[in-house]
Amino acid sequence: MKILIINGPNLNLLGKREPEIYGNRSFEQFLAELRSEFPELEIEYFQSNHEGALIDCIHEWGFSVQGIVLNAGAYTHTSIAIADAISAVTAPVIEVHISNVHQREPFRHHSYLSARCVGSIVGLGLDGYRLAVRHFEMRG
Ligand code: DQA
Repeated sequence: MKILIINGPNLNLLGKREPEIYGNRSFEQFLAELRSEFPELEIEYFQSNHEGALIDCIHEWGFSVQGIVLNAGAYTHTSIAIADAISAVTAPVIEVHISNVHQREPFRHHSYLSARCVGSIVGLGLDGYRLAVRHFEMRG
């Protein structure tokens, strides 16, 4: 079973970026842990700061993986194109946000992606990715 995790803009700086909001662990560190927690899963990872590259990635993998865990960063609040890419592919997508976007600025309260996703997990830190992967694992 293959799961794809996609991180959008600025999430390459996890661990360094606003640690009071996003924590002090790098995603690479966390990913290594996640892969060892789920040895039976193939967990692919892609990060980009570019909207088109995120869309290309969804197109490339979205017909062959069993699930996509997507944190589109700020594109969540702006991108109809990423929303359309989610609708275009067959893989179910779970939206993840590390921070609780609903406790933050009003512009973070709306997501163009949520309605296209099977579910959303917000505010649980990196655990959100773990729970999303676990959901896909249980779902088979
Ligand atoms: C984020 C929340 C977004 O509003 C923000 O632009 C991010 C990270 C999160 O994981 O909490 O870049 O998606």
